[in-house]
Order: sequence, then C-alpha cells, then structure tokens
Amino acid sequence: MKIAASILAADLGRLVEEIRAAEQGGVDRVHVDVMDGRFVPNLTFGPVLVEAVRRATRLPVDVHLMVVEPERLLEDFARAGADRISVHVEATPHLHRTLRTIRALGASPSAALNPATPPEMVEWVLRELDSVLVMTVNPGFSGQEFIPDVLPKVRWLRERILSRGLSVEIEVDGGINEATAPLTVRAGATVVAASAVFRSPDGATRAVSRLREALRLGAQAAAEPLPAPGA
Ligand code: DX5
Ligand code: ZN
Repeated sequence: MKIAASILAADLGRLVEEIRAAEQGGVDRVHVDVMDGRFVPNLTFGPVLVEAVRRATRLPVDVHLMVVEPERLLEDFARAGADRISVHVEATPHLHRTLRTIRALGASPSAALNPATPPEMVEWVLRELDSVLVMTVNPGFSGQEFIPDVLPKVRWLRERILSRGLSVEIEVDGGINEATAPLTVRAGATVVAASAVFRSPDGATRAVSRLREALRLGAQAAAEPLPAPGA
C-alpha cells in the first residue's frame, strides 16, 4: 500500500518544509490537486507550483487534473515534472488518445472517476492505464466526508484488473482517514491519497504511521476469509 500526501491542506506559505516533513514522515508520493473553477467549483494550482514541488522532493509527484479538456495542459504539466497525470474521464472526450499522450510525454497515465461515474468508463482503456483514481468524495475540496457507496466500484475494478492479468493501481482519493482507509484496502485499493498527513496536529510522521497501521489492519482483514453467511 502506498500513501500519497495531498498538498491541498498543507500550509502553502511553508510548502517546502511541509513536503519535506511528509517525505521524512514516510509518505510515498506527493499528490497535487489542480482545479480550474469549471470542472470543479474551486481554483488551485498550475504548472509553476508543480515545478516548485518537483524541486522540493525526490518523491514521485502525482498531478490530479480536475479541469475540463485536460488534453490542453498535458505538455505543460509533464514539463513541470509530473511523474503521474490523472485526467477525469468526465472531462476528456477522447480518453484513449489522452492517455497515450500522457505516456508519450514520459508520464504515467491515470484515469479518475467521480463518485457517480460507472467503472465501465475505463473498461476498454485498462491496458493504457497505470492507475485508476477512484474519487471517494466529489472533487473540489479537501476535508469532505468519505462516500462508502463507492467501495463496490473499487471491488469491481480490482476484479477486472486481476482477471485480465493487468497490474493497474487503484488509488482512492477523498475523506481517507484511519477509519475509512481499511475499508478501501479491503475493497482492493492499492494507493490512498490523503490530506490527513498535513492536517495532523502531532506532525506528519505520526499521521503516516497511524495511517499505515490502519492500512495494515485493513489488508489483514482482507486476507481473512469472510464469515459464513448467517454466522
Ligand atoms: C479533492 C481532492 C483530494 C483532496 C483530498 O477534490 O482531489 O485529493 O485534496 O483531501 P481530503 O483527504 O481532506 O479529503
Ligand atoms: Zn486529488
């Protein structure tokens, strides 16, 4: 299981220190939420910030594009140093081409699904993907409540990916904390994106180790057989 720290809730005035603390705390990736005020009702970061994040850390930088027509921006974000680029399937009409472009630019392609979007939307591009980003809140803001109805979608994707012998990651994003993370692992998630690492009053290291422990328990529960019906 991997943990991606979402900088949306970081203290941006101290961004470099915040990222270094998360890195020392043991996160695996940095997750940058790009919002355009159209696909989602909020405006955040552009390629210049991704460049600054790139300079601040050796960790992979995941760019989550919550923008309409993300295909217009791929080159700029790849050039800024994005290792992975997630595009929303609801925002790009030629998903296959968009994913191929991301790979051609040297980044890792990922498709994101809003809570109401069916997983079938990525079924015929699974081979083009390194990751599916399953939103567990409606995108736009940090600090929202986890939507448990999305869990069967994670399970569906997991089964499809395994049955086709692929190794596509499943990342969950939104409302991830010690209580919800184990549910996502049980359903088949392999990466969690969370702002909890930056919000934690006792620091990133403690937040990461609490989240890891919760993920470990979730993985353990997933390995145990389900109780017999009626038991
Ligand atoms: C939501 C973003 C998430 C968000 C996660 O639109 O895509 O990455 O920053 O924040 P939390 O963990 O607070 O839900
Ligand atoms: Zn995100």
